[in-house]
Amino acid sequence: VKHLLGIKGLTRADIELIFETADTFKEVLNRPIKKVPSLRDITVANVFFENSTRTRLSFELAQKRLSADVINFSSSSSSVKKGETLLDTVNNILAMKVDMIVMRHSSPGSPHFLAKHIKANIVNAGDGTHEHPTQALLDAFSIREEHGEVAGKKVAIIGDILHSRVALSNIFALQLLGAEVMVCGPITLLPKYIKELGVKVELDVRKALQWCDVANVLRIQLERQQIKYFPSLREYSLYYGINKKLLDSLDKKITVMHPGPINRGVELSSDAADSDHSIILNQVENGVAIRMAVMYLLAQN
Ligand code: CP
Repeated sequence: VKHLLGIKGLTRADIELIFETADTFKEVLNRPIKKVPSLRDITVANVFFENSTRTRLSFELAQKRLSADVINFSSSSSSVKKGETLLDTVNNILAMKVDMIVMRHSSPGSPHFLAKHIKANIVNAGDGTHEHPTQALLDAFSIREEHGEVAGKKVAIIGDILHSRVALSNIFALQLLGAEVMVCGPITLLPKYIKELGVKVELDVRKALQWCDVANVLRIQLERQQIKYFPSLREYSLYYGINKKLLDSLDKKITVMHPGPINRGVELSSDAADSDHSIILNQVENGVAIRMAVMYLLAQN
């Protein structure tokens, strides 16, 4: 495999190989010297056409831990503002002898388009509402770490499913690994095709929490909403907001995840986000090992 464009197209064996490789890198990251020479002859460009905190820093750190040379591109301070196209931008970066492109872009399918036109390895760091494969890999890896395995676990993805690339990649990855997947949210924030993906659908957040072993809570993505959707943030927080009192009222202890950034007080209260249910910062920690594994494996091809 030369690119990681999405979870769609991967096999269970591919994901298991990424996890086994990430296990090794996680051990490395816990040593006093956190660096290995694996990618010392590779140059990677992080090409971000959309804002990011976790994904961009996590990829950059993963590249540095692998001893790769790294350059960072942000469209907001680039010649994209003067009208340069995506392909011209990337071809100019590649002319500087870059081997791998990590790209975030607002257009679904943009990394697939690049893959047809350039020779370098491509890693999709999020393409619009489509996929965010490394997020789904680090989420499933974190469930495996917390619960021993992903197979047989009940995972509820709760929130703005319609606009979420995290939801789609998580559904694909969790199903490949044998988890049962439910989505929960207001009907206006669920895609019409959702049942075709083979997931359970629940509109009542309490019932979803009562059903699941793991709740992956998503943000309302106002920046992707073309029209004003019902509910408003205030209504969403009233009917779907998850707080510690709600978690404590369940008859079992569930794990709470969130890909970040959290809108505290909307989808998740601070007392829930910071509670002992939460593995949110473990997800961020695991992201570095997962991204090291992905880039290490791609660089072999
Ligand atoms: N989870 C995630 O993609 O966060 P960023 O947008 O900060 O990268």
